[in-house]
Amino acid sequence: MASSSASKLFISLVVVGFLVYTSAGNFNDKFDITWGDGRAKILNNGELLTLSLDKSSGSGFQSKNEYLFGKIDMQLKLVPGNSAGTVTAYYLSSKGSTWDEIDFEFLGNLSGDPYILHTNVFSQGKGNKEQQFYLWFDPTADFHTYSILWNPQRIIFSVDGTPIREFKNAESMGVPFPKSQPMRIYSSLWNADDWATRGGLIKTDWSNAPFTASYRNFNDANACVWSSATSTSSCSSTSGTSGSTSNNPWLSEELDTTRQERLRWVQKNYMIYNYCADSKRFPQGLPTECTMA
Ligand SMILES: *[C@@H]1O[C@H](CO)[C@@H](O)[C@H](O)[C@H]1NC(C)=O
Repeated sequence: MASSSASKLFISLVVVGFLVYTSAGNFNDKFDITWGDGRAKILNNGELLTLSLDKSSGSGFQSKNEYLFGKIDMQLKLVPGNSAGTVTAYYLSSKGSTWDEIDFEFLGNLSGDPYILHTNVFSQGKGNKEQQFYLWFDPTADFHTYSILWNPQRIIFSVDGTPIREFKNAESMGVPFPKSQPMRIYSSLWNADDWATRGGLIKTDWSNAPFTASYRNFNDANACVWSSATSTSSCSSTSGTSGSTSNNPWLSEELDTTRQERLRWVQKNYMIYNYCADSKRFPQGLPTECTMA
């Protein structure tokens, strides 16, 4: 009796260990380098990925999987020093002319000046939902975790577990919400000195090239992998078609009061642009979803 429960415990530990091990996504298994002619590299047996940018080219990668909903974490360490003019984009996107997209974009700056974290959401090809933030740490000194929770009710952008933005499903008010097009993860490092730093005033200083951004600890263990061959999601129970919330509590996750307070703290202290507060840009009235509580 005792020995059989001990061996059960041992087997469970092995299984749990295996799951933890495999979910710490290996870049070789999860991503393809898509461009940059050798400037993107997967290192340390798949534990680290680096992108680089020089005067002739940037570089990028994309996920092998497509996802339809997920809670996806990635750790990034951004281009250090004088990174003005460079943009590191990390986003989810579907394909086609009415695509959906969920964006993190990191706009570099002169040494000592703050990066801007730019966020946007596209539904059916329409974006114009920008919010921008400064960070409460130097994103070039260390790796930090950038997460997207995407479920049918909301999209939550988080940094080191602190929510910085929530985009709620406002379909009941006629606002399209990304929920039927599977998306891939993309990332790229490129030169955007025509607009990125102080509206394009500061140009990329190529004497600092190559510029490098690093990635590690990708985690898609809580994401629904979409199979286009069978049009099924890994979250669907074998009998039903919709995602099973009991197996995937994040599919109905919302912000509790503590995290709502954290969100308000970020918005009060670190938000530098909010399309929902830009009445000059929308003289006919703010976008519908902005009136949602
Ligand atoms: C760069 O630093 C300046 C000065 O602090 C700031 O106004 C700007 O928002 C920063 N970020 C970018 C991307 O320009």
